[in-house]
Amino acid sequence: MYIKSGLLQAFLLGGVAASRVPDLSERTVDSSARAWAAATEKANRFIAQLNLTEKAAMVTGSSSAGRCIGNIAAIPRLGFTGLCTQDGPTALNRADLVSVFPAGLTAAASWDEDLIYARANALASEFREKGVQILLGPSAGPMGRHTMGGRNWEGFSPDPYLTGRSMDATVRGIQDTGVQAVSKHFIGNEQETQRTRTVSEDGSVVEGISANIDDRTLHELYLWPFADAVKAGTASLMCSYNRVNQTYSCENDHLLNTVLKGQLGFKGYVMSDFFAVHSGVKAATGGLDMNMPGGIDLASIYAGSTSFFGGNLTSAVNNGSLPIARLDDMIRRVMTPYYALKQDQGFPTQDPSSGPVLARYFAQQIPISAEIPARDVRHNHADVIRKLGAAGTVLLKNTNSTLPLVSPKTIGVFGNDAADLSAGLDNALKDDRTGTPLGTLDIGGGSGSGKHTTIISPLDAIKARAQKIGARVSYILDNTVLAANDLHSIYPTPEVCIVFLKTYASEGYDRTTLEADWNSTLVVNNVAARCPNTVVVTHSAGINIMPWASNPNVTAIIAAHLPGEQTGNSIVDILWGDVNPSGKLPYTIPVNETDCNIPIVNLTSISSPTEWQANFTEGQLIDYRAFDAKNVTPLYEFGFGLSYTTFDLGSSISTKALVKNPSAAPNPKTAVVIGGHPDLWLDLVKATIQVSNSGKVAGATVVQLYMSLPADAPAGSPVRTLRGFKKIYLKPGHKSNVDFYLKRRDLSYWDVASQQWVLPTGEISLQVGFSSRDLRIKTTVRVL
Ligand SMILES: *[C@@H]1O[C@H](CO)[C@@H](O)[C@H](O)[C@H]1NC(C)=O
Ligand SMILES: *[C@@H]1O[C@H](CO)[C@@H](O)[C@H](O)[C@H]1NC(C)=O
Ligand SMILES: *[C@@H]1O[C@H](CO)[C@@H](O)[C@H](O)[C@H]1NC(C)=O
Ligand SMILES: *[C@@H]1O[C@H](CO)[C@@H](O)[C@H](O)[C@H]1NC(C)=O
Ligand SMILES: *[C@@H]1O[C@H](CO)[C@@H](O)[C@H](O)[C@H]1NC(C)=O
Ligand SMILES: *[C@@H]1O[C@H](CO)[C@@H](O)[C@H](O)[C@H]1NC(C)=O
Ligand SMILES: *[C@@H]1O[C@H](CO)[C@@H](O)[C@H](O)[C@H]1NC(C)=O
Ligand SMILES: *[C@@H]1O[C@H](CO)[C@@H](O)[C@H](O)[C@H]1NC(C)=O
Ligand SMILES: *[C@@H]1O[C@H](CO)[C@@H](O)[C@H](O)[C@H]1NC(C)=O
Ligand SMILES: *[C@@H]1O[C@H](CO)[C@@H](O)[C@H](O)[C@H]1NC(C)=O
Repeated sequence: MYIKSGLLQAFLLGGVAASRVPDLSERTVDSSARAWAAATEKANRFIAQLNLTEKAAMVTGSSSAGRCIGNIAAIPRLGFTGLCTQDGPTALNRADLVSVFPAGLTAAASWDEDLIYARANALASEFREKGVQILLGPSAGPMGRHTMGGRNWEGFSPDPYLTGRSMDATVRGIQDTGVQAVSKHFIGNEQETQRTRTVSEDGSVVEGISANIDDRTLHELYLWPFADAVKAGTASLMCSYNRVNQTYSCENDHLLNTVLKGQLGFKGYVMSDFFAVHSGVKAATGGLDMNMPGGIDLASIYAGSTSFFGGNLTSAVNNGSLPIARLDDMIRRVMTPYYALKQDQGFPTQDPSSGPVLARYFAQQIPISAEIPARDVRHNHADVIRKLGAAGTVLLKNTNSTLPLVSPKTIGVFGNDAADLSAGLDNALKDDRTGTPLGTLDIGGGSGSGKHTTIISPLDAIKARAQKIGARVSYILDNTVLAANDLHSIYPTPEVCIVFLKTYASEGYDRTTLEADWNSTLVVNNVAARCPNTVVVTHSAGINIMPWASNPNVTAIIAAHLPGEQTGNSIVDILWGDVNPSGKLPYTIPVNETDCNIPIVNLTSISSPTEWQANFTEGQLIDYRAFDAKNVTPLYEFGFGLSYTTFDLGSSISTKALVKNPSAAPNPKTAVVIGGHPDLWLDLVKATIQVSNSGKVAGATVVQLYMSLPADAPAGSPVRTLRGFKKIYLKPGHKSNVDFYLKRRDLSYWDVASQQWVLPTGEISLQVGFSSRDLRIKTTVRVL
């Protein structure tokens, strides 16, 4: 969701009350089918007490009803205090005294489900303490079909398995605090360019891009992680801006009713992306359950008037075009997770500072008298932020034993990304395509961004570390100075030169290059020409090409992604070896940006309003699957990352069938439950391998299992696909067994003809190693 700033929202300023940190005890929420069934009973009793106007209001956002970015109005006579939704997946956006967490991209690069859970849990606890019931995240769409997708960083990885496991950990982490997760954006929202309908000043309409996705690709790639989110109990799914097969996803009967609510057994509600609704009855019967923020467009929402839902739903019920049973179903879907997560029982009140902070964000100026001190909800979250920031940092090159740094006496720091923020602590919120020139990048822009309370820049953290060891730090931060090759102030040549590069991306735009920003190639080459021991660190919202990767003076390369507010501390932990790097690429880095690139559709002139079309003809072959299928050598492959130690695998994989004589397809007599057919989630095969730390220092690695379907599987199957991973920490000389459990879904393909998951009949190949191209041990299993 993305709203341009500059619109005064006077309503946000109402109501001054004392701010107070609510007393919170740890809570674990049961999101099982049984808990949901009990909650449905409560929802039914609630619905029975509503009149028609109230029913329409329960599914229609109202900007005048609260101080959040999306609000459902209270019904005081029933003791219902309303619902508040806030962005987003990385920080509680447009709020004060909150933490900025590592981005989803960083979380995925850690391949550490415990840390991914911990991130979500800490983030959601901030929502809870601020009185926000509904968190607009996590994101599994975009997945990353396009290397240049502007929002890829908000989600996890172009690999559905890694994203699926990350969605599972994140939904659980959020909802265990009693806050609702909204898994988004459903579905095919792979590019920002013309992502939705636009209306010109003359009133002419251009429809949003249509993602045309075939059925098998839908199930095996884009839908896969959403199935994990539903299985984990996600309260809500957000339908996306774009069209899918020519129909807007927020009114797409096939996707919402047949696939999501039918095949996946989803019992929660579908919330629209903001202003993504283009019809009333059609959307409601098509499966949309909640219209956010409620109005038709910005002008009308601020005038508080028209909506495709609201009054139009009541008249549609009255004239018989919308069955009341469907309206009741919509409310039941909204209120079931509310009761299941016990949000009716002692949920904290809204932080009264939410209104003024949001107003300042939109209006730029509010009177000082309207400011209310915020609740500080950060606690010790800096610890998990710092830890995950380091865990999601990937060491790509390390020659000449450059890293870890031992005791350099002179350190050079270069590049605008090393600097503290220079344009405000929410500079990533700027509605532009470039971010600000000077200041480190720890989070991307748009609705998924956040306002910092504190940030530790790389330069500040390096200086603090250098002071402890008596080292001298010299630096040039201005990239125009570096691009002009003016390094005369650097004397003597530092023992190590660390260049910090950044790559901004924001909701609303796609990237136009894979090169890092601000003359990065020139900056690296100029520093490396003087400094034979140059370390390049990228802070990036996505994939970068690295034209300087083979420069012998570039002795180390680190992809540090978007680490959140502890960014400087996280990178110092890695540079000095306090933390042994264990991050692995959650995507593939190409040599050249044209390698396996799927260009963003970008029409410059059109002859019909429906002309924006994206045909997903590559099927499942995105990212490493495309490199493997086309036999293109990447610069650094999916799953790759170095360590300061070395790891070895045992000589064989042992496998065990866990179910005798499984049927080819799930039992047709068993009913679908939340998450889909229960058989899909049953473990069929266990694979075990031994891993050992063969080096000299302790550290963690990620053991990865890939699967290749047999030749009898349908054409278009990837060469191999990730089907298991385990992050494991070992002391030097220690070894451990790693078990992988392969579920029916993991070993099946989606059969278009029978509309179900089917196990292949031939031999399935399993390959285990430390990246998608470092597969050391192989075996085969036959399940049928
Ligand atoms: C429904 O209840 C509300 C109070 O929540 C009241 O203001 C409204 O008039 C009622 N509408 C109808 C149609 O009865
Ligand atoms: C899109 O249309 C194709 C061709 O008719 C169909 O096979 C596929 O299932 C549709 N996909 C979605 C997501 O509706
Ligand atoms: C119903 O929707 C139409 C647009 O189709 C809008 O003009 C009208 O104002 C809406 N009515 C209400 C009560 O919001
Ligand atoms: C019923 O009401 C809805 C909402 O106002 C409107 O869109 C629709 O055209 C109406 N249908 C009939 C048959 O009057
Ligand atoms: C680093 O190693 C490369 C290749 O072995 C060598 O050419 C280069 O001189 C070394 N650089 C330093 C600073 O030792
Ligand atoms: C640096 O980049 C800017 C645009 O980002 C460009 O205008 C300028 O020419 C570049 N400087 C050099 C020396 O290449
Ligand atoms: C799309 O085209 C417009 C106009 O030429 C350009 O400004 C924009 O950068 C392009 N976007 C992408 C992602 O290429
Ligand atoms: C590497 O550094 C040495 C010593 O400063 C310099 O002579 C050489 O030109 C540099 N090489 C590159 C490719 O920049
Ligand atoms: C990438 O490949 C294209 C086409 O072969 C070429 O024109 C371009 O210079 C290459 N870019 C880089 C950065 O190597
Ligand atoms: C997308 O596919 C449709 C149907 O096959 C075809 O008519 C259209 O030209 C394709 N569009 C593009 C941009 O390739």
